[in-house]
Amino acid sequence: KNQIKGIIIALAALTILSFVILRLFEKLINRPISQLKDRMRRVQEGDLDIQFSHLKNDEIGSLAKNFNRMVTDLKKANQKIEELFSKQMEKAEHLASIGELAAGLAHEIKNPIAGMKGALEIINQQTDISDPKKEIFTEMLLQIDKINNVIHDLLSYAKPKEISMNLVDPSEAINNAIKLARTQVIDKEIDIRFKSLGNGTLALIDADKIQEVMLNLMVNSISAINNKGHISIELHEKNQRELEILFSDDGMGIKKEHLPQIFNPFFTTKNRGTGLGLSICKKIIEAHNGSIEVESKTKEGTTFSIRLPVLLYSD
Ligand SMILES: Nc1ncnc2c1ncn2[C@@H]1O[C@H](COP(=O)(O)OP(=O)(O)OP(=O)(O)O)[C@@H](O)[C@H]1O
Ligand SMILES: [Mg+2]
Repeated sequence: KNQIKGIIIALAALTILSFVILRLFEKLINRPISQLKDRMRRVQEGDLDIQFSHLKNDEIGSLAKNFNRMVTDLKKANQKIEELFSKQMEKAEHLASIGELAAGLAHEIKNPIAGMKGALEIINQQTDISDPKKEIFTEMLLQIDKINNVIHDLLSYAKPKEISMNLVDPSEAINNAIKLARTQVIDKEIDIRFKSLGNGTLALIDADKIQEVMLNLMVNSISAINNKGHISIELHEKNQRELEILFSDDGMGIKKEHLPQIFNPFFTTKNRGTGLGLSICKKIIEAHNGSIEVESKTKEGTTFSIRLPVLLYSD
């Protein structure tokens, strides 16, 4: 009888003990882990204000501490991204609205200017060369052409025409741009060198647009060169799949703090610049799925590297 009693007591003790151990296990390990799981789920759902409190100095405590740190870092990173994003959006919206405004204005101005120019041309023709007014009319016509150039830039920035690719010799576009650029070189001694691909390689590009890019770059270089200098243009090809244009000058260079801004529309350091030249270049290159990068050192010069992932054909 006593034996049975002993066994029952032992069994009861064992049951109580295992119950206590189970509770303890639950309290010490299972519960924190299931809490962690629950909090992880909430973080996943985007709640970044979650933290563990009353941390013990054990493994689970350190797990929870790390969890807390991770959530805090995540929250900080998230805030930074949101800040940057809203800044970028603001900037993009700002630029887009400036662009629209400018394009609208340019459109409004274009027709009256054309009218003025026509009228002035007639008056100018009817004015005798000996008349001192003739000089004024001629100067006015020149100024009108300048206004027209600005309007052209504004419009092509705000509304770039569709790109139309053709299989052409890229050297032709570049040679045309060089010819046009030479007419702008007055009072300066500028040596323009061009190394083409040779062997009549053809590339699938929008030749007019690439010509516009090259002209914009050359006009910039010409104004960056003081009296005497060099402009060099080189074409390279890679595996008949990429056309690279290296464009450099030994002009005054671009200040380090200006470099990140030069492709932004309306960024200019010139009194009479509109700051649209390089942003138009970038748009055209990107329409070819290409990239344009710049390297520059003040007093030494500037190099633009353009990469166009276009097909090339050679015999
Ligand atoms: N080759 C270069 N050498 C030195 N600075 C340059 C060169 N190209 C561009 N820059 C700098 O980048 C700025 C922006 O050039 P971008 O062509 O976009 O505008 P801009 O020449 O000032 O005006 P726009 O081209 O509209 O007449 C210039 O004002 C100039 O400070
Ligand atoms: Mg320019």
